[in-house]
Amino acid sequence: DLVDQINRLEELFTVPAEKLNQITDHFVNELAKGLSKEGGTIPMNATWCMGFPDGNETGTFLALDMGGTNLRVCEITLTEEKGEFDIIQSKYRMPEELKTGTAEELWSYIADCLQQFIEYHHEDEELDQLPLGFTFSYPATQNYIDHGILQRWTKGFDIDGVEGRDVVPDFEAALAERGVPIKLTALINDTTGTMIASAYTDPEMKIGCIFGTGCNAAYMENCGSIPKLAHMNLDPDLPMAINCEYGAFDSEHVVLPRTPYDIIIDKESPRPNQQAFEKMIAGLYLGEIFRLVLLDLHQNPDCKIFEGQDVGKLQKAYSLDAGFLSAIEEDPFENLSETHDLFQNKLSIVCTKPELELIRRLAELIGTRAARLSSCGVAAICKKKGWKTCHVGADGSVFNKYPHFKIRGAQALKEILDWPANKGKGRGDPVEILPAEDGSGVGAALIAALTLKRVQQGQ
Ligand code: BG6
Ligand code: GLC
Repeated sequence: DLVDQINRLEELFTVPAEKLNQITDHFVNELAKGLSKEGGTIPMNATWCMGFPDGNETGTFLALDMGGTNLRVCEITLTEEKGEFDIIQSKYRMPEELKTGTAEELWSYIADCLQQFIEYHHEDEELDQLPLGFTFSYPATQNYIDHGILQRWTKGFDIDGVEGRDVVPDFEAALAERGVPIKLTALINDTTGTMIASAYTDPEMKIGCIFGTGCNAAYMENCGSIPKLAHMNLDPDLPMAINCEYGAFDSEHVVLPRTPYDIIIDKESPRPNQQAFEKMIAGLYLGEIFRLVLLDLHQNPDCKIFEGQDVGKLQKAYSLDAGFLSAIEEDPFENLSETHDLFQNKLSIVCTKPELELIRRLAELIGTRAARLSSCGVAAICKKKGWKTCHVGADGSVFNKYPHFKIRGAQALKEILDWPANKGKGRGDPVEILPAEDGSGVGAALIAALTLKRVQQGQ
């Protein structure tokens, strides 16, 4: 019956402390492997973002953010006032069709948005070329900060003719065609932007993380500790941000406790056998894991939830997002009446009381697993670097909106990093994950400013 099913799901989705530790230990090794000459599963991409801002950066920059839920264009003025800035911004919808369309359509759409932004905010002005920090949140191989070869699409994107290519010339060509006066100064990842923007206002910030549509982190490594760059004879003490791309962790399936549902997600995704870690925890997949479990239970003759009901809507892949799960976890009513209405309105399914209880527990299990596993990546960076205390800047829809995500993550960090009993509550923890400053806005502008300064200094 349903109670047996709940027990089975609890066993499948619970990640005990011992497992968290095993995952983190493997993670530490994999981070090191990614930096080695031979490389590993986690890309550990060099970003050419060399060091933190000191608060004296000034100038006006455009920032373009592509890779989360929205497409966003900002204009940021870093003022003479240390650590202060002005920002204007416009958000554009990222049309779903674009994610599986053509490269031409993608770059045209983005260039159109930039053009609109400039025309709106700088009507009739004679403009010099504006420097742009482009937050392109996908794994890219960079030999310079203003170029990037897309290694592979992640987060469900599947646009032909971009993987393996430098994205900058194609992007710039679309701008040139429209006569948009913009010069790309830096191509950055959202995690790097998050780290830099957060460190701008809090010197204890050492890691930038995203818990959103995807999941990833960046931190600073000294060039001397990046064996794969040894041939470049960089100053060994010079810091360089590393975009871990650790959503790719364990794509060879050695340590993560995957369920049959995770395996289906992977198989049916446009890029099977990639981003194993991300597919278990990121916002893009949480609702889909939930949907697959419910559908399986409906088809299971021992359990038969939603018996006699039309599950047509539930059969549609990716029809439930992380917001749907959040709403279930947030249902304040004892009788789960909001969840009842949600299922009725969105899926045309009328749930019984035991079904509602199962649904709530399942959402908790999936949300808790995501938060606990997420902490393994952060803990692994801290362990690798020997950091006992630090601040971590975090952004993304899951971190900002998913109920209990922060406290569940803090509790897992405590189990991994062996803190005393009064820790693991978030506030005041030795490693504290805090809401980040705007990485793809301010962070991108700061990195563009730092880059221009380095160029001027001839470094
Ligand atoms: C935003 C950042 O707030 O969070 C983006 O500005 C980042 O750079 C995004 O990509 C990630 O969250 P989501 O939930 O939109 O993927
Ligand atoms: C995916 C992307 C990565 C990004 C993360 C969060 O993992 O590959 O570049 O940082 O999502 O947006």
